[in-house]
Amino acid sequence: MKILVVGRVGQLGSALAEVLPGRYETKFLDQPDIDLAAPSSLREIVLSSRPAVVINAAAYTAVDRAESEAALAHTINAEAPLVMASACKEIDAVFMHYSTDFVFDGASGVPYTENSPTAPASVYGQSKLAGEEAIAAATERHVILRTAWLYSSVGHNFLKTMLRLAEGGSEIRVVADQVGSPTYAWDLAQVTWAIVDALGRGSEDRFGLYHAVNAGVTSWHGFATKIFDLIGWKGVRVRAISTEEYPTPAPRPRFSALSCERLRQTFDLTLPDWQDAVARCLQRLRVENGAGSTSL
Ligand SMILES: NC(=O)c1ccc[n+]([C@@H]2O[C@H](COP(=O)([O-])OP(=O)(O)OC[C@H]3O[C@@H](n4cnc5c(N)ncnc54)[C@H](OP(=O)(O)O)[C@@H]3O)[C@@H](O)[C@H]2O)c1
Repeated sequence: MKILVVGRVGQLGSALAEVLPGRYETKFLDQPDIDLAAPSSLREIVLSSRPAVVINAAAYTAVDRAESEAALAHTINAEAPLVMASACKEIDAVFMHYSTDFVFDGASGVPYTENSPTAPASVYGQSKLAGEEAIAAATERHVILRTAWLYSSVGHNFLKTMLRLAEGGSEIRVVADQVGSPTYAWDLAQVTWAIVDALGRGSEDRFGLYHAVNAGVTSWHGFATKIFDLIGWKGVRVRAISTEEYPTPAPRPRFSALSCERLRQTFDLTLPDWQDAVARCLQRLRVENGAGSTSL
């Protein structure tokens, strides 16, 4: 089976490449060979590759910058997926894509399901929701995985920011009144390939939208505390602050727990507990930085 993956250099794209099953003929494309900011070029790229599955791991992910770059965010996160999904429809390929907890306003007190009403409060969230809707309208043969709080040993993310800040001081202020599920890109990649496997076995009735996050919920403060507990940095004090004490251009959902029941019931897939995933990512960083390294 031929698979085209868009975006290898990001957090998720790197993980997809790393856990890539050998049984597929897989081609990865990044800039400058593909540019989602130029959607008119994408149809030809998809058609000429003739894949059975296109996986789009690329996106405009600069949540705060999107507030002042709405047109570009919309082009990359909504128009480009629409063109790729439409091209997939032409050749009967499956389009796999990722979305975000930012499609919700965070006012709920119970985990969001795929049927919960959306109400994105940020430009990024709006662009991702527009992408979801465009894909669903373009082709039935799609799988969209909504994830949240993604991190990995590569790229820019909360976990790596915490480690960097800890090197510069003994107190770190972290928001404690936003809760969600930190999700390890490696686990999301495993789930992605398991879904590709299932679709390859003929699961034609399982297309659609799924939530896919590591199990369990915490706050950013809880996430940071776990990181420092696991690496044993006793000198770092993680001080809990409120959202108001850490203003950002783009509003964040206060509550973004996502129910992954549909993923479990449909594909028999569950992502591991978030705390276990953080431990594995830190272990990975230790190996990458050399065993015994004091700075991980
Ligand atoms: N990060 C999160 O916390 C989070 C949370 C929820 C959902 N998601 C979703 O999960 C998916 C993966 O996110 P991620 O964290 O892996 O993202 P990431 O690390 O920011 O990577 C994004 C990728 O998109 C590529 N890209 C950006 N603009 C492009 C363009 N014009 N043409 C081609 N490629 C372009 C980037 O390439 P360059 O580096 O070369 O620009 C990079 O490979 C995305 O759909 C994202 O919306 C992420």
